[in-house]
Amino acid sequence: MTKRQVLVAANWKMNGTLQTVRPLLKGIAAGCKEGIPAEVAICPPFIYLAETATLLSGSDISLGAQNVSEHASGAHTGEISAAMLKDLGCKYVIIGHSERRHIYGESDAAVARKFMRAVQTGLIPILCVGEELSDREAGQTEEVVARQLDAVIQAASIGSFSKAVIAYEPVWAIGTGRVATQDQAQEVHAFIRLRLARHDSGVADRMRILYGGSVKAANAGDLFSMADIDGGLIGGASLQAEEFIEICRAAE
Ligand code: 13P
Repeated sequence: MTKRQVLVAANWKMNGTLQTVRPLLKGIAAGCKEGIPAEVAICPPFIYLAETATLLSGSDISLGAQNVSEHASGAHTGEISAAMLKDLGCKYVIIGHSERRHIYGESDAAVARKFMRAVQTGLIPILCVGEELSDREAGQTEEVVARQLDAVIQAASIGSFSKAVIAYEPVWAIGTGRVATQDQAQEVHAFIRLRLARHDSGVADRMRILYGGSVKAANAGDLFSMADIDGGLIGGASLQAEEFIEICRAAE
């Protein structure tokens, strides 16, 4: 089995001001300097990407964005292209976050187009999948996750997943304080890896599958200790430097 490098990525969502972003980044960079047993990435709002890139220069922390246009360039007022993200030094881009799917109506097909655009441009997509509470209660978790995953595999081909990361984020655990148990998360992570293995066992074996949804310093160690959990996508807790650093350290 391949040893996969743990990735802990901060998704700041639509939070922060220049005044709060600066000390937060300084705190995270200082904590990371002491040595972190994981790759760390920060995904700030677009508007703070340049500032973040400047403040993180010289550190090992990677930069990511929270969304990207499916189009290359041109008349798309208000959109941000993959080339622009590359230009600012982004390595990662979150694709298909549940807030994009559910609040902004991004379809599986649109998510697949964004995924392909990211890969074509040399960005590493962090593809988010996850079921709603009603799906879980109806016993349809695997069906929903499979549908979301298959839509991208079919459009983009399994080969492109060798340059991607997947994040399992059960919608009912996001921002609710209700974290999936380590066994609940592990079960879906193993399912995702198996689903990929149907197409390419090497890609499945190397795939980093992150867990997201109410991860805190107190539960990160238990989650990261599971066989198929290769890190986390952290929302609320990534807005506090110390808490976030503790989560990163839990990757040991
Ligand atoms: P919380 O950590 O705030 O639950 O958010 C998770 C998330 O959506 C990360 O993308």
